[in-house]
Amino acid sequence: MNQLFSDRILNSKKSFIREILKITNNKDIISFAGGLPNPISFPTAALQDAMNTVTSKNGSHVFQYATTEGYLPLREYIAKRYQTKHGLTINADDILITSGSQQGLDLIGKVFLNKDDHVLIEKPGYLGAIQALSLYEPHFHQVDLFEDGIDLNQFKTLLHQHNIKLFYSVPNFQNPTGITYSKANREALGGMLNDTQTVLIEDDPYGELRFIGEDVPYIQSFSSNPSILLGSFSKIVTPGMRIGWICTTRPEIMDKLIIAKQASDLHTNYFSQRVIYQYLIDNNLEEHISHIKKLYKEQREAMLLSIAEYFPENIKITKPEGGMFLWATLPDSMSSLKLFELASTLKVAFVPGEPFYVGEIPQNTLRLNYTNSDPKTIDEGIKRLGQAIKTLLAQA
Ligand SMILES: Cc1ncc(COP(=O)(O)O)c(C=O)c1O
Repeated sequence: MNQLFSDRILNSKKSFIREILKITNNKDIISFAGGLPNPISFPTAALQDAMNTVTSKNGSHVFQYATTEGYLPLREYIAKRYQTKHGLTINADDILITSGSQQGLDLIGKVFLNKDDHVLIEKPGYLGAIQALSLYEPHFHQVDLFEDGIDLNQFKTLLHQHNIKLFYSVPNFQNPTGITYSKANREALGGMLNDTQTVLIEDDPYGELRFIGEDVPYIQSFSSNPSILLGSFSKIVTPGMRIGWICTTRPEIMDKLIIAKQASDLHTNYFSQRVIYQYLIDNNLEEHISHIKKLYKEQREAMLLSIAEYFPENIKITKPEGGMFLWATLPDSMSSLKLFELASTLKVAFVPGEPFYVGEIPQNTLRLNYTNSDPKTIDEGIKRLGQAIKTLLAQA
């Protein structure tokens, strides 16, 4: 039946992580595999109140079709937050509400990419971006990540070797590594972009979840190139309502994104937009985010402490200052896929690094999510994983 399908879908892989999550749905398994926010952080009662208010105040209006750009007061709220938190001059016209930032990635692919265009992403990079952009059949290139950001020499070489159309980055608490680019790294790479025609994409779903250190300006502050910011309520309110946004101060880009959005789904779920907005004006978002950060900080501490106790010393671990993930690098001789199989028998799961790479794939990396288990469960899971690592090392 393959002759029926487009080349673009035939060339795209199923999400490896979704397959793994099927295995980890089993309740006996301690899973560090998912990338889900902790459901105890969802403001369920407040969202229910917001839903009632929106429906009783506005009646049938909130169940009607709406504008492609999104609900204006919500766009104004987001623009104002960029102004007050980051000092950026952003207006409501610079914001397009999307079905999660994941849809933002798809729209970017639609608007910018022809088959065989060149796209630069981080190594390892966000799997969802690889999946979304793959449908537009670009050539991917990856630039190595260090603890303080991307490898600048490699970045410069890649920018000049290929005609890179998009550079996609997750500069804060990156998925999958948890790494944050330093100010110096952002400044240097912003400067390098200035000599090119490359569009800068900064995807920032985790930026508000900083529990150590201080915020760093966006890369776009250091570059005059066309740039796009992606944002989302998924990690700070709820992912299920699918409300994210694209922000760009370039009207030419925004016009094209609106055409693509209209063609895709007319507009983002209007009821969800109204409910989220009602929630935002009736509640204290800062307080809510502080509560999530406290929770995740404790879970991150618990995981790092247990790793220090149970993992052999030659395992390299990132120490994220926020967000939801940390990243482990095993000795070169070890395979994280083999470790995954062994760990499954001990009923603990993680994501092997493989799906976060395009082209050459290191075998010895893995992602650990700490936001979905309590500290006691984290300790037990890391103890089992440490046992699996030691067993595999002894066999090598
Ligand atoms: C880096 C990154 N971008 C985008 C997304 C998608 O988020 P959303 O729920 O806003 O579509 C995720 C989700 O995990 C992510 O990690």
